[in-house]
Amino acid sequence: MTEFDQLRAEAESCTLCPLARTRTNVVFGVGRPDSQLMFVGEAPGRDEDLQGEPFVGRAGQLLDRLLAEVGISRDTVYIANVLKCRPPGNRNPQPVEIDACKGYLRSQIRLIRPRVVVTLGNFATKLLLRTEMGITRLRGQAFPWWLDATLVPTFHPAYALRNGERAVATMRQDFELMRRLLDQAPPGEA
Ligand code: URA
Repeated sequence: MTEFDQLRAEAESCTLCPLARTRTNVVFGVGRPDSQLMFVGEAPGRDEDLQGEPFVGRAGQLLDRLLAEVGISRDTVYIANVLKCRPPGNRNPQPVEIDACKGYLRSQIRLIRPRVVVTLGNFATKLLLRTEMGITRLRGQAFPWWLDATLVPTFHPAYALRNGERAVATMRQDFELMRRLLDQAPPGEA
C-alpha cells in the first residue's frame, strides 16, 4: 500500500468530527496522485456524498467544461475538498470541522506535490492562503506558495452557476492563467 492509499484508508474511517455520523460516503478525492494540477473545493454536496466522488453534480459539470476549454481533462488532475464529509443540508463548513479535517488535505498536497493549486471559492482560499480577504479580491492572481507550488484562487463553480455568464467568464480567465502557469517550464528544466 502506498502512503497515499494509507491516507485514503485513514480518512475513510475517520470519526474526528460529527460529520462522520451523517455522511453516506467519505469523499477523499479523485484523480492522479502524481498530477501537476490540483483543485481544492469546499465540501461534498448531496451528489458527492452519495457517489463518494468530488464535483460530480452541476458544479462539477462546470468545472469539467472550464477544464476542457483550456485543453485539460478531469482524469489528469487531482480534485479534493477542504471537508471530506458532507455538511447536512449543504450548510457552510464549521471551524471545528475544518480544523479536524485539514490534516488530510495537507497530507494530500504534500504527497501529490502539485505545481499549481487552484482554490475554488472562499473556504479553500482562506484556509490555504491563511487570509481573511475575500475571493473577489484574491482571484485572478498567482501566489507563490508552499512546496514551491503556485496557488491560484478562483470562484467556486456553484457561485458562478448562481451568478451567470459574467462570473463564468471570470473563472475562464483564471483557468487561462492556470494553463499558462502549467505551460511554463518547471524550475530547473528551463
Ligand atoms: N462543491 C464543492 O465544494 N465540492 C464538491 O465536491 C461539490 C460541490
